[in-house]
Amino acid sequence: MATYITTPIYYVNAQPHLGHAYTTIVADTYSRFSKLNGQQVRFQTGTDEHGDKIVEAAAKQHVDPRTFVDQISQMFRDTWPSLTIAYDRFIRTTDADHIEVVQKILQKVHDNGDIYFSEYTGLYCTGCERFLIERELEDGKCPDHQVEPKEITEQNYFFRMSKYQQALIDHIKNNPEFITPERYRNEVLSFLSVPLEDLCISRPVSRLDWGIRLPFDEKYVTYVWFDALINYLTGIGYPDGEEFQTYWAGAEHLIAKDILKPHAIYWPTMLMAAEIPLYRKLHVHGFWNVNETKMSKSLGNVVRPAELVKAYGVDTFRYFTLREMSFGLDASFNSEAIIARNNSDLANDLGNLFSRSVSMVEKYRDGVVPVATGDDQSDTVLPDAAAKMLEEYREAMADFRFHHGLRAVWEFVSEANRYIVKNEPWALVKAEEKQKRLDQVLYNLLESLRILSLVIEPVMPQTAQAMRKGLGLEDQADDLRTMQVDGQWGLLQPATQLQKIENLFPRIDQEKQEKGGDKAKKTVQTSAKEKKDTKNLADGVITFEQFQGVELKVARVVAAEPVKEADRLLKLQLVAPEERTVVAGIAQFYKPEELIGRNVIIVANLKPVKIRKVRSEGMVLAAKTTDDNNKEKLVLVTVDEQVEPGSKVA
Ligand code: MSP
Repeated sequence: MATYITTPIYYVNAQPHLGHAYTTIVADTYSRFSKLNGQQVRFQTGTDEHGDKIVEAAAKQHVDPRTFVDQISQMFRDTWPSLTIAYDRFIRTTDADHIEVVQKILQKVHDNGDIYFSEYTGLYCTGCERFLIERELEDGKCPDHQVEPKEITEQNYFFRMSKYQQALIDHIKNNPEFITPERYRNEVLSFLSVPLEDLCISRPVSRLDWGIRLPFDEKYVTYVWFDALINYLTGIGYPDGEEFQTYWAGAEHLIAKDILKPHAIYWPTMLMAAEIPLYRKLHVHGFWNVNETKMSKSLGNVVRPAELVKAYGVDTFRYFTLREMSFGLDASFNSEAIIARNNSDLANDLGNLFSRSVSMVEKYRDGVVPVATGDDQSDTVLPDAAAKMLEEYREAMADFRFHHGLRAVWEFVSEANRYIVKNEPWALVKAEEKQKRLDQVLYNLLESLRILSLVIEPVMPQTAQAMRKGLGLEDQADDLRTMQVDGQWGLLQPATQLQKIENLFPRIDQEKQEKGGDKAKKTVQTSAKEKKDTKNLADGVITFEQFQGVELKVARVVAAEPVKEADRLLKLQLVAPEERTVVAGIAQFYKPEELIGRNVIIVANLKPVKIRKVRSEGMVLAAKTTDDNNKEKLVLVTVDEQVEPGSKVA
C-alpha cells in the first residue's frame, strides 16, 4: 500500500520553532524510511492561514492579512530545506484548489442534512480557535493558553457531529492502531464516553471575513478547523485526482497532543458525513519544553530551528530530537544534552567507527575494498548483529518508536567498535599468514558501514550521503533499490575505491559554545549557568543575583484561621498590597486573633503550592529559636505597623 504522511498545517501567526521542526522532521524521517522499505510515499506539510488568530496577528504588525500570511508562510517554506526536509506538496489554505474542495465538502454535508442553522452561546478560545466546554476549563481558563475564553452568542451553522459519535467509538474500538500511542486512544475514548455536542462550523462575515465562504450562505465563512482539516484531501486531488485514489487509503496524520480532539473527533466525523473513508492512522507526540520549561514567546525561550542548525549542524539536530524524545511523551531540550549526544553517539561511536575503519583500509589496502574469501567461516559476528539490528530497527521505525530504532542501530555501532578492538587489525597486518583474515575483518567493517549508511539515511540524510561517498558508493544507488533495508549482507563490491571525506561529526566544545555570543546557544544554555549556581549552593554561598531573585515584602495580616485537620497550620489572609493567601506552620505558637494587624515579611515570588487543599502564595519569615523547655519555637519576623504593606525588604 502507498503511504501518505502529513504534518499539521501550521498557523502563520508564529514563526517556525523547535516544535514545528520536530513534527516535520519526524514526517520526513518516516517518509524516507518508508521509501527505503520500497514503499510509494507522499509527504505533505503546509500552512493554516485563515481565522481570528491570523487577523489579530496581522493587525498587530499593521499589515493586511494577505501580505502577512504570504510573509510567514514563506518563512516555513524557507526553513524546511535547511533541515533537509523533502515534502511533495506544501499546501496553503489560501490556495485556490483548497477553497474549492472545502466548499465542495461543505455543500455535500449540507445536502446530506448534517449542517443546520441555530443560535449558540459559548466560550470561545482564540488560541485554540474553538468553543470550549465547561469541563475543559481549569480555574475558568483554557488550560493550554491560560486565558479566560470569551463568551459569544451568535446565529451560526452547526455540523451534526453527535450523529456520528457511536460510529466513531466503534471504529476506534475495532481498529486499535487508528490512534497511537495508546494513551491518546484512551484519552479520546474517555472524551467520547459522554455525549458529544454538535460543532459550530461558521462565523458571520460581519465578525470575521478572512475565511472561506459557505457555498450555501454568503454571509458566513467557515470555521478554521473545518477549513484546515480538509487540506489533507485537497493536497492529493480529492475527489477525482489519481493521487487521491492511490494515497488516501494509506493516510497517516502526525500531530502533537495539543490538536488531538480536532483530528481524532472532528475530522473522522466530518469524513463520515462526507462519505469519505477514514484516514488510516493518527500518530500523536508530546511536547518539547526548553530546560524543563514550556516554550513561550513571553518567556523569551523560543528555540528557532535555524539557530540550532547553525550551532550544532542539521544532522546532529535531527538525530538528537528523534533519539531523545520517546514518541508520545514530552521531552526537554537543552544544550548539554544535544552536545553530549553529538560528542558521544555521533563523534565517538559512529564517527570513530567510520574514520578508524576507513583509515585502516587506506593504510593497509590502499583504500580499496578487499575481497573477503578464504576467510574464517565461524566469524559471523557482524552479519548476525546487522540482521538483528535491522529487524529491530524496521519494527521500531514503522511503529514511530524512533528512539528504540536508533538505540538498536547504536548497539550495532558498539558491536562493530568492539569487533575492531577484539580483532586488532594492526596486529594482523604484521603477520603474513593473517592477510586473508585481515581482508575479512576489514571487509566486515566496511560492509557494516554501508548498512549503517542505509539505516541512518532517514534520520541523517547528509551524513548518510557523506558515508556513502567515503565508501565509494556515491553513484551506486543499486543497493538502496535492491536491498531496501532487508539486510542482505555482502552487497559492497570488492575493488571499490574509497574516497577521502571530511570528519563526519566534529566534537562540540561546550566551553567554546558558551563563550560564543550566539542567541541560539544562550537560549538553550541557561543550564550551564544553572550548573554554576547549583555548585555555589552546594558550597553554601549564593551570588548577589541569586539573592536579588528572592522578592521580600512587607505584608499585613488581615485575617487568620486554622487549616482543617492540620494542627500546625494557619491560613493567613495578607495584603501586600495585593491580597494573597499564605499557609504558615505557626499554629502552635500563635493564636489567629493575635496576628491580625501585624506586619510580617513574606517571600513574595515563590511558586504557589497547594497545602491541604489551600493555595499558598508565598512564605512568611520566622526566626527559629527555643522556648524555656528547650523546645523548638518559631517567632515571626515583623516590622513596625507604620510601614506600608507591600514595601520591599532590601
Ligand atoms: N493550524 C493548526 C493545525 C491544523 S492541521 C489541520 C495548528 N497549528 S500550530 O501552528 O499551532 O501547530 C501545532 C503543531 O505544531 C503541533 O501539533 C505540533 O505538531 C507542533 N508543535 C507546536 N509546538 C510544539 C512543541 N512545543 N513541541 C512539539 N510540537 C509542537 O494547531
